[in-house]
Amino acid sequence: MGTVIISSAFNPKPIESNAVQLHQDSKIELPDNIKEIVEVKCMNCHKPDARNEKAREKLQWVKVPEMNKEQQEDFIAEMFEVIEDGDMPPARMVERNPKMKLTDEENKAFMAWLEKEEKRLKGK
Ligand code: HEC
Repeated sequence: MGTVIISSAFNPKPIESNAVQLHQDSKIELPDNIKEIVEVKCMNCHKPDARNEKAREKLQWVKVPEMNKEQQEDFIAEMFEVIEDGDMPPARMVERNPKMKLTDEENKAFMAWLEKEEKRLKGK
């Protein structure tokens, strides 16, 4: 009888491999608050028909939900850099239009979201 209990205790194996599968397939999600910021302050240069070729090549938000795991990791790392350094929107644009600068609150919202996505990617 003891064996029955032990074998069922080891049962979670298939469930575990399922979880790994799910984790590998999981995608970046943009919560509404992030979508709103991106729409106003980032989208113009980072969309399929953006005029700025370099910006368009580096990042297109419409592709974010389809990224595979490696692309997600690259994207999150780049996002951390530009948000932490205040590099986006680019200084040239902010000079012309100071309202485009991310507010402290928007910055915090980005950081919280990125930290969450990073944890998911690391499987934590
Ligand atoms: C005025 C146009 C413009 C706006 C608005 C803009 N970007 Fe960019 N973005 C660029 C350009 C140009 C590049 C390419 C820079 C380079 O390679 O030197 C870039 C590159 C990037 C990259 C890739 C950086 C890398 O290391 O390759 C990320 C990530 C990014 N932008 C995020 C954002 C976010 C987040 C916002 C909104 C907060 C934003 N951008 C708003 C023009 C813009």
